[in-house]
Amino acid sequence: MPQSHDFAGDTVVVTGAGSGIGRATAIAFGEAGANVVVADVDRDGGTQTATEITDETEGDGTFVDVDVTDDGDVEEMVETATTEYGGLDVAFNNAGIGGTFDATDEISEEDWQAIIDVNLSGIWRSMRKEIPVMLEDGGGAIVNTASVLGKVGEAETPAYTAAKHGVVGLTKVAALERATDDIRVNAVCPGYIETQMLDDAGVTTDEELLAETKALHPMERLGTAEEIAEAVLWLASDDASFATGETLAIDGGYLSR
Ligand code: NAI
Repeated sequence: MPQSHDFAGDTVVVTGAGSGIGRATAIAFGEAGANVVVADVDRDGGTQTATEITDETEGDGTFVDVDVTDDGDVEEMVETATTEYGGLDVAFNNAGIGGTFDATDEISEEDWQAIIDVNLSGIWRSMRKEIPVMLEDGGGAIVNTASVLGKVGEAETPAYTAAKHGVVGLTKVAALERATDDIRVNAVCPGYIETQMLDDAGVTTDEELLAETKALHPMERLGTAEEIAEAVLWLASDDASFATGETLAIDGGYLSR
């Protein structure tokens, strides 16, 4: 990917960096010179991302086995940033799960709690540990992954849509709280992106469903993980110095319909 931002020597934490949007963004940060803490529950995927950053980019990668539903894991992730690389400049809180397709009155308590715990509480847990370290360091930039479903609803995704709307709200609240502390907090709202998540949902393997999903976007295609990474690097960079509380849609026009 062409690299327009310079993160040389900065420390970046990326959750969900073992696959998809998180991996592409972690690698983009590595290409921009950053030291990247690669956090994921997927040990194989996470190790692969960290190795690729160390071997093939200007930056350095360290994998940490992190479940964002576990407070101790999240603490270890932030500690790794400070012990391995001496601080924390940027956090991309991105880990997420797709979950099931059930109506609001049909989703099980278990599925509801699991989706909210990863997709919403996981972002709060991460920011809760990241912000104090950034305050000590004199500032930083946080980008959270929401979704177009953080702005509009889609039938049969009650927990996912509620969690992503929650991420949008939480991003604004944290941005307001830290606006004078040199910590900017923003979110990306991707449209449908070609990743494992869509494979798992059967979207990429079912021709009819794939065509329907593409048609939700005026550009009539899915996005790529690299296109989201570009937006995350911009939001995290000094070029976005006046942007905070922004929830930036990268969606092929999805939300403009
Ligand atoms: P992906 O499935 O390729 O990657 C998600 C990564 O998060 C995986 O490596 C997975 O192991 C990790 N993860 C899951 N639960 C975790 C946990 N409890 N702790 C730590 N890591 C965990 O999916 P993708 O598409 O890259 O998703 C990344 C984010 O983008 C998610 O928050 C997702 O909701 C969001 N998103 C994705 C869209 C898409 O169409 N693919 C659209 C809009 C938002």
